[in-house]
Amino acid sequence: MAIERITDVSMHQDDVVEQQIEVTLRPKLFEDYIGQERLKSNLKLAIDAAKKRSEPIDHVLLYGPPGLGKTTMATVIANEMGANIRITAGSAIERAGDLASILTNLTDGDVLFIDEIHRLGRAVEEVLYSAMEDFKLDIMIGKGPAARSVRLDLPKFTVIGATTRTGALAAPLRDRFGIIHRLEFYSHSEISRIIERASNILESKIEKDAADMLSTRARLTPRIANRLLKRVRDYADVNGDGLIDVPTATAALKLLEVDELGLDPGDRNLIISIIDNYGSNPVGLSTISALTGDETATIEDFYEPYLLQIGFIERTPRGRRVTPRAYAHVNREYSL
Ligand code: ADE
Repeated sequence: MAIERITDVSMHQDDVVEQQIEVTLRPKLFEDYIGQERLKSNLKLAIDAAKKRSEPIDHVLLYGPPGLGKTTMATVIANEMGANIRITAGSAIERAGDLASILTNLTDGDVLFIDEIHRLGRAVEEVLYSAMEDFKLDIMIGKGPAARSVRLDLPKFTVIGATTRTGALAAPLRDRFGIIHRLEFYSHSEISRIIERASNILESKIEKDAADMLSTRARLTPRIANRLLKRVRDYADVNGDGLIDVPTATAALKLLEVDELGLDPGDRNLIISIIDNYGSNPVGLSTISALTGDETATIEDFYEPYLLQIGFIERTPRGRRVTPRAYAHVNREYSL
């Protein structure tokens, strides 16, 4: 994606830097983790049971839109288990040998977090199957007629996989996860608490109603909430005495072009382009992609989940359709 969007849910450089430094906004334990209550209860149970049996927990698959805390939850699970975590991504494991080297370097109880697990290649996936199922690594040694297969024992580890879409995951891989959960969008009050917690850690002062106001514009997504907070804090530091109140937050958000619902010019452009070209008729993903110039995957992963969540677009068997609510938001007259 070429354009810089404050509401972009993918990782930005400052998120990457934040991951690397000690003072992080990410919660480390369940008690610091706000929201996802159902998921937390299920995981706590699995962790308590595993600890009682002195075993690692079952493999966990977390899915849902980006920015909702899949990586954070994986590190919380590892911390709660008292385990080491090794973080990698589907696109980073190109060959079976890459996976073999990761697996043979694990120790008993380790957590292996694989982000974007749907991007693993077929050959790598197959090695992962037997590793997950019976902690064995099947590798081929040599080439041609002299080639033979050997089976190595692996430590008892836990895979935590994350994906934006379970549909993209091969069924045999999906079946190897004992615990499969979707991360949900957060409520406004949860986002507001996340913002207050983050501003405490960042040692910046935010008034309660300013946190509430920011929470309505963060697309129900912690990663965006924290990013908005940092930009609003910059604005408050430069243009005032650092206090974030409603007028400061309002002015900063205006500068960022984030509207009352957290939509930015990219979202509004998507909605208006559909309305102007297709009205309220259903349109296919590739048509939307041609209209906005974004890749279909970008539309599916980044724009669409929140627009569906707030009822601005709906999915029909014949494509996506803009709703009357979206028409009203961009000041267009609805017609069938
Ligand atoms: N920071 C980002 N996500 C969070 C969460 N779910 N709880 C607390 N702090 C967070």
